[in-house]
Amino acid sequence: MTTAERRRVLITGASSGIGLEAAKILLARGDDLTVICRNAERADLTRSALLGSVETCVADLADLDSVAKAIEGLRRNQMPFDALVLNAGLQYAGHGSPRWSAQGIELTFAVNHLAHQFLAEGLKAQTRAIVITASEVHNPSTGGGRVGQSAGLGMLEGLRQGPGAPMVDGESRFNADKAYKDSKLCNLLMAQQIHRQRPDVPVVAWSPGLVIPRTSEGFFRNSRQANPFGQVLFGLIARDLLRVTESVERAGELLVQLINEQLHQPGFSYWSNGLLGPGRHQFNSTEPSEEANDSDKATMLWMLSNDLINSLLAQSI
Ligand SMILES: NC(=O)c1ccc[n+]([C@@H]2O[C@H](COP(=O)([O-])OP(=O)(O)OC[C@H]3O[C@@H](n4cnc5c(N)ncnc54)[C@H](OP(=O)(O)O)[C@@H]3O)[C@@H](O)[C@H]2O)c1
Repeated sequence: MTTAERRRVLITGASSGIGLEAAKILLARGDDLTVICRNAERADLTRSALLGSVETCVADLADLDSVAKAIEGLRRNQMPFDALVLNAGLQYAGHGSPRWSAQGIELTFAVNHLAHQFLAEGLKAQTRAIVITASEVHNPSTGGGRVGQSAGLGMLEGLRQGPGAPMVDGESRFNADKAYKDSKLCNLLMAQQIHRQRPDVPVVAWSPGLVIPRTSEGFFRNSRQANPFGQVLFGLIARDLLRVTESVERAGELLVQLINEQLHQPGFSYWSNGLLGPGRHQFNSTEPSEEANDSDKATMLWMLSNDLINSLLAQSI
């Protein structure tokens, strides 16, 4: 590979799951990787799981002070990133009460959206393209988005309220599954807002499909605490009986495919790994939900998120 073909990728959420699989492929290809990990222990584990040119940077995405320090360090060394991959995410579906970030923001929103907006904005001068791992559940008209309460951000009253608001809409009672769907809707709105702000920068959002690894780790680990038997059964039925899941390895490949193919395509696109039938997926560029295409809401979400980040950081000085 020539130096020109070798890329530097900054990625969140590569200590596990889809991000880890993508990291392995990128490193095998000869790319340079910077992985943002929640703490030094996860950073050590991540480096030992990966072979190649990999650096780690510690930032707990549930703590804006920690993210601010990471941004400061990454800015100081002025390294340009060919792609900023905002992939980390969590969900607590099945849990009855909210968890809170270090600054008192509902955890799903804080990690999946707020910390990522802060990174995207804080590193914009060093970033040539952005890839955001969203989910089709942001869209109430998809299979996954129809199950349970739908995504919907209302007038963003919870965001205006700030710390202590259990839901972004400021109206509904806390529902962990909806909080996750809402955070993924925020990912799509943020992607389109960044595109409007910086039309020359390729911005890609994507949905990997349902990925349920066989291990006790992975995306459903928190939901398993709330309902161990139900989650094991759900995994067996979805993965082994109905075969509606995607493998974590394939999802990692799809993320790398986007980096390979979309890095030089200015504009916004959304890609979804849609289910065609048992064991069959198709990865296509597709339309986000109607709410995700609402440019006024995207602008408002960006501004309110920015104001919230700044006011929370100011309080911690
Ligand atoms: N799995 C699915 O079915 C599915 C479907 C649609 C979309 N997605 C999206 O795909 C992305 C990756 O999920 P996955 O399936 O690969 O799940 P995963 O294996 O649980 O990976 C999640 C990653 O996010 C990191 N993370 C979580 N909280 C963090 C924090 N506070 N600070 C720093 N890093 C943190 C985790 O770090 P630790 O290892 O330290 O916990 C881990 O590296 C997520 O955005 C998710 O919403 C997943």
